[in-house]
Amino acid sequence: MGGGQPLRLLLIEDSEDDELLLLSELRSCGYEPSLTRVESLEEIERALNEGPWDAIISDYVLPGFNGLAALPLVKERGLDLPFLIVSGAVGEDTAVEAMKSGVHDFLFKDRLARLGPALARELREAEVRAERRRMQERLLLSDRLAALGLLAAGVAHEINNPLSSLMMNLDFTLNSARERSLQEDDVQALRNASECAQHIQEIIRDIKVFARPEAQPLGPTDLHRVLDSALRMAWNQVFPRAQLIKDYGEASTVHGSEARLAQIFLNLVINAAQALPEGSSHEHAIHVVTRRSLPDTVRVEIRDTGPGIPAELHERIFEPFFTTKPLGEGTGLGLFICRRLVTEMGGRIGVESQPGQGTRFWVHLRAAATPSPAQSASA
Ligand SMILES: Nc1ncnc2c1ncn2[C@@H]1O[C@H](COP(=O)(O)OP(=O)(O)OP(=O)(O)O)[C@@H](O)[C@H]1O
Ligand SMILES: [Mg+2]
Repeated sequence: MGGGQPLRLLLIEDSEDDELLLLSELRSCGYEPSLTRVESLEEIERALNEGPWDAIISDYVLPGFNGLAALPLVKERGLDLPFLIVSGAVGEDTAVEAMKSGVHDFLFKDRLARLGPALARELREAEVRAERRRMQERLLLSDRLAALGLLAAGVAHEINNPLSSLMMNLDFTLNSARERSLQEDDVQALRNASECAQHIQEIIRDIKVFARPEAQPLGPTDLHRVLDSALRMAWNQVFPRAQLIKDYGEASTVHGSEARLAQIFLNLVINAAQALPEGSSHEHAIHVVTRRSLPDTVRVEIRDTGPGIPAELHERIFEPFFTTKPLGEGTGLGLFICRRLVTEMGGRIGVESQPGQGTRFWVHLRAAATPSPAQSASA
């Protein structure tokens, strides 16, 4: 016993002898089944509700019903499990009819040698189907996120015009406060209103930075300004979990675009924040460091004091749809997109991390000298 592949098997079968036969066949094929045998529709329903199961094997002829009757019970619960029928002698038409109704395979009790391979194949295919469903769900989610981004950018754009007009009117009234002999507290109230309006304008600018990265041309971009935008956008996620420590080197212009860079940094900072438990801001820190490293390279580092990432995952986290977050929270596209965007800008991205030692993501970007008129003319 032991050492075999565990298999949670629901067996619909009224004969104990056949159960033993099946068990011994499965063991000889390398499975270690934990088997539950049921023989009435009520028992089947109860077992399905309790689950979970890896596979279902059913006899065909059972007292009062046939094996096919169990199939709808499985389907109506949204379960997609290998469902095999292992039957005594029945006509070929019966087998054909069973396959048509959605049974994955039909085997005969006197030819059980086919069971092991058939089960292995169906387990594999069920796994492939499950993986495809997970991908589709995540794709839908990422579509929704992209649509939401577009919507936000549109709303930001719409707010801009009335906001400009509001600010102009506030300025106008403030500038003529003396002629109108306004009271000091009226003036103060107007100043407050004006500051709030400026704040709204900054928020809108930040939202617009993220709109439609693919439409922005690559060119010299102010690194620290983009980083600040991304950090403001991430603030709600960061402040309940960590101290934010900015350590910027000399002012840098890099080859990129605001929207692409902002998207990269936002994902890295949110990943760092999400790796930390909420309410732990006094214990944890997120460092954002920038340094000119080589004459033509700027290094950005986003470091956290979270649980870290085991070495065997350092490449996989950059794969599309790899995520350890529950559905609805992560699509697993963040780092995949980061790497694509960084590469497009002629840069590189990587991770250094060990479990228990925190995580350090670094991004190397090409430094861009602001093109002088002479340079752009000769280019
Ligand atoms: N700072 C970090 N600390 C620990 N694990 C991390 C960190 N950053 C990324 N990871 C791991 O890498 C996985 C992939 O990250 P990625 O940004 O690609 O997707 P996600 O954050 O899960 O989802 P999405 O970014 O699409 O919302 C995460 O699920 C997490 O397991
Ligand atoms: Mg992410």
